[in-house]
Parts: sequence; C-alpha cells; structure tokens
Amino acid sequence: MVATLLSLAACGSKTQQTQQTEEPMNKDFLTLATERYSVRHFSDTPVEQEKIDLIIEAGRVAPTAVNSQPQKIYVAKSPEVMAKLNKVSPCMYGAQQCFIMCYNDDTVCKRGENGNYGEIDATIVLTHMMLQAAELGIGTCMVGYFKPDELCRELNLPETIHPVLLMPFGYAAEDAAPSPKHTEYRPVEETVEVI
Ligand SMILES: Cc1cc2nc3c(=O)[nH]c(=O)nc-3n(C[C@H](O)[C@H](O)[C@H](O)COP(=O)(O)O)c2cc1C
Repeated sequence: MVATLLSLAACGSKTQQTQQTEEPMNKDFLTLATERYSVRHFSDTPVEQEKIDLIIEAGRVAPTAVNSQPQKIYVAKSPEVMAKLNKVSPCMYGAQQCFIMCYNDDTVCKRGENGNYGEIDATIVLTHMMLQAAELGIGTCMVGYFKPDELCRELNLPETIHPVLLMPFGYAAEDAAPSPKHTEYRPVEETVEVI
C-alpha cells in the first residue's frame, strides 16, 4: 500500500501539468485523483458551458446527509462578480470563473441540538465537482481563505445562505504546476489505524 502510494506520488510535475490541459481521457480513478492538483494560475480561456454543466451534474449526484442536498452553488462568471471575489479573497489566481459553494439553512439536515451537516455536505459536493473538473481537463483550487461575512455582504446573499468554500476554476495557465505540498503525503501508518 505504502509502496503503491509512493510510486504514484513520484509522478513528475511536467506530466501533471500536461494532463491538466489535455483533452479528457479515460483514467482509472486513483490515477485521476493523484494527478489532480490545486491550480494556482489560470489562463483566460473560458470554460465551455457543456463542461460546466457536467461539473454541476457531478455535484448534484453527490451524497449528502439524509440526501438533504442543502447545497447552493453560485457560478460566478461575470467580471463584476469576479471583481468582488477578488476583493474578498487573494486566492482567485487569475480565474475567469468560480464556484461559490454554500449551504442553505432551509434544507440542511440538523445534527444534534445546534449543529448541522451543511459544511460537510457542501464539501463533499464540491469534491465531486473538483474531480469531475479534473477528468475534463479543467483545473480547480478549493479556497477557504475568505471572509464569509464580507462575501455575503458583497453579493447580497440571503440570510439563510452560508458560504463554505470558493472554487476558482478554468484551464491551467501554461506555467501552472503543482506546489511542492501536492506530493507531501503523510505515511499511511500515521493516518490510518486498524482497530
Ligand atoms: C478545505 C480546503 C481549503 C483550502 N483553502 C485554500 C486556500 O484558501 N488557498 C489555496 O491556495 N489553497 C487552498 N486549498 C488547497 C490546499 O492547499 C491543497 O489542496 C493542498 O495543499 C494539497 O495540494 P493539492 O491540492 O495540489 O494536492 C484548500 C484545500 C482545502 C481542502
């Protein structure tokens, strides 16, 4: 298991960079998951609507607590909204489009007295979308570095909507490459324990 992970982690960054921008191809899941990396420099090329639709569909079929599907996803494409996102986060990386992943108080499944599954559900949905994007050759970066209150104010979001993560997406710029962190995997023995 460890040896397998190490050999997968040894993929060169050049290979990873090339595959982010190539046409979609059939890959086994673990290869896709390993080669995906957080893109932090996007090109100006807009993503085709058919590909955006597929990414959204991959999110739609994701599991959520009691299948409550509390996600509310804004697809930011206009220069006006992108300018606002650039104001609330330094992590747009030149993207021309961004998913704003939120959950909705009205549909979220409660957890205990005061909690709910909103952040967990929203993150699972976004992970489906991130991996579908990778399969289509579209780069993404999950971004938690923003102030939700400021975002709600800027976009005038309803009170029931809670932003969880941003995900700028697009075709990777030619010089985009995985950060060194991408292949810094903790040993399985440290993170997994059979009990
Ligand atoms: C919940 C979450 C929040 C993240 N927030 C940010 C962020 O604000 N800015 C950023 O550049 N990357 C962010 N990332 C990306 C991680 O830094 C990245 O996934 C990690 O370093 C592993 O690298 P890789 O995605 O290239 O494999 C975030 C990832 C997750 C899962």
